[in-house]
Amino acid sequence: MGKPILKTTIVIALAALFSIYPLVMISCSRVQHFELSRFIAPETCGGCHDAIYDQWKNSMHHLSQVDSLYRAAAFHYLEGLTDTDEIKEAESCVKCHTPVGFFTGFPKTVSQERDEPGRVPEIARQGIQCDFCHSATGAYAVYNNQIKLDPGYGESDPGVKRGPFGDSKSDFHKNAFSKFHTSSEICGVCHDVRHVVFGTKLETTYEEWSKSPYNSSNVKEHVPCQGCHMYQRPGVPATGSTSRPKNPGTAAVDGPHREHIYTHYFVGGNAVIPPLHDDRVKADMAVERLRNAAVLSIDGSKIGEGKIFVRVTNTGAGHYLPTGVSDIRQMWLEVVVKDEAGRTVYTTGVADARGYLPGKAIVFNTVFGDGKGNAVGNLAKAREVLRDHRVPPKGTLTEAIYLPTAPAGKVLVSARLLYRSVPQKLVDSLMGNSIIRIPVIVMAEARKTLPR
Ligand code: HEC
Ligand code: HEC
Ligand code: HEC
Ligand code: HEC
Ligand code: HEC
Repeated sequence: MGKPILKTTIVIALAALFSIYPLVMISCSRVQHFELSRFIAPETCGGCHDAIYDQWKNSMHHLSQVDSLYRAAAFHYLEGLTDTDEIKEAESCVKCHTPVGFFTGFPKTVSQERDEPGRVPEIARQGIQCDFCHSATGAYAVYNNQIKLDPGYGESDPGVKRGPFGDSKSDFHKNAFSKFHTSSEICGVCHDVRHVVFGTKLETTYEEWSKSPYNSSNVKEHVPCQGCHMYQRPGVPATGSTSRPKNPGTAAVDGPHREHIYTHYFVGGNAVIPPLHDDRVKADMAVERLRNAAVLSIDGSKIGEGKIFVRVTNTGAGHYLPTGVSDIRQMWLEVVVKDEAGRTVYTTGVADARGYLPGKAIVFNTVFGDGKGNAVGNLAKAREVLRDHRVPPKGTLTEAIYLPTAPAGKVLVSARLLYRSVPQKLVDSLMGNSIIRIPVIVMAEARKTLPR
């Protein structure tokens, strides 16, 4: 008697589920559409905001579309895919890397970007730019670039530019204070990336920050992304372990003097791409940032058992170390142990002449899987996170080193924390041998003689 009713209920429930399913899908990825003519070229903004323009030029935001590493990865991921869900992900990169193009209709996919490069409008090639960020009013959700925009109508009617001031005036555009611009959400909208179909968390910088001590409810201790990344300038790394002095000046030619002008270099760890565009400044700033991100210490209390502990503390980053595309980044420990006679008795993480790491190196990274426990290099196939071994903000990881035999006399332990944007091996396989030599940056060092 009860069974048919139960069946009907299930049928109705399923029908309801399927009818709302498309809605759920839409609300999961809201995208607005605009005419291309509504966006103003960065050079126009630079006419009055010259200092900010110079900082932004050749930043990773400016280069996000032309970045050769991004392009190599994106085109490579698309190759040979047949699963439609995987293709959807592989086609989606343009949403963040070519945002003005994506929001105005071309390119909507990576294959369009690849196959018809001449059709990509000039302004879209300029990546993440002034008018894109300063037309933002909020976000539908803080991942996968679900930003809400309200651009003007081109140079004759530029509309409202939103920013941190409440009292600024310009002859060119209207101005408005925007809380969104002063908070981490405007960054998180792109700095949290999920697989468009499987939902796998591919990049979690914003989430990492939001759970960190830097997202403090105490206003004085609260440090948003801007609190580090938009305070940095040459000589001022502005990390969690260094001072972050204000940058007084003017925001525009003839603008009033202000206590702090947010800088627009947007530097992380990338010392590879800006120099390819003749910009050494940003590469040097990336090195300064990385050198003030972590500290190492050596614990020799168990040397009698042939065991050494190396501790890595994230003192400077407002998120995990490394963050972002931490499946591609390579941050690792290099440890060399020598005996009293100077003979090497143990090494780990020492790169060979080609720059390749030995198999058993201690690497801090994320690894994605195919859903069956097999590692995948292609993000489009990422159905699960297999491994996440990274250093949390203000946190410490302890790595144990086992010497083959307990040393008879004293030993000298040298440890270095090293970083490069991509493993040399991966670059060589993607782009051909020795086309780009990826610089290795020493983030931190420690030496100790054991036992003391
Ligand atoms: C990735 C987004 C982004 C891009 C791209 C960007 N800005 Fe900004 N800009 C911001 C944010 C966020 C703030 C405010 C930071 C805060 O208050 O915490 C800001 C602040 C400003 C200000 C106020 C003065 C200051 O610096 O504090 C001006 C003017 C400005 N930006 C102009 C520009 C121009 C011109 C460009 C292009 C050359 C540009 N911005 C590119 C996000 C961006
Ligand atoms: C004709 C000169 C001129 C041009 C061109 C110009 N601006 Fe401005 N802008 C100003 C001045 C002046 C201010 C006020 C600065 C101040 O009060 O410190 C300003 C302020 C801003 C602010 C701060 C708003 C606030 O209230 O926090 C932003 C953001 C901004 N401009 C973005 C842009 C963008 C994006 C472009 C290009 C689409 C642009 N500006 C083009 C002159 C200009
Ligand atoms: C307390 C200072 C601090 C705060 C807050 C902070 N960062 Fe960072 N960030 C750093 C340091 C230091 C590095 C260099 C180490 C590294 O590359 O991981 C870095 C690196 C990065 C990188 C490059 C990572 C890589 O290795 O590829 C990105 C992207 C980034 N930050 C984005 C953000 C975003 C987005 C936020 C806010 C959600 C944020 N950061 C908040 C200090 C900070
Ligand atoms: C429209 C999407 C978008 C927004 C909004 C955005 N970013 Fe980014 N950001 C990117 C992309 C994409 C890259 C990587 C470009 C590349 O490497 O090709 C990037 C790169 C960076 C880097 C350089 C990382 C490195 O490895 O050196 C930093 C630092 C950074 N962003 C910080 C910020 C901060 C701080 C904000 C907020 C004020 C912000 N971003 C807002 C998309 C965005
Ligand atoms: C939701 C926004 C978003 C989407 C979609 C996205 N990315 Fe990114 N991408 C970023 C951000 C933010 C960074 C900077 C993180 C960092 O530096 O570690 C980045 C950095 C990268 C980098 C590092 C570039 C360099 O020079 O170091 C590569 C490679 C990359 N993305 C490839 C892709 C590919 C391929 C796709 C599509 C399958 C994709 N991205 C889709 C936001 C996005």
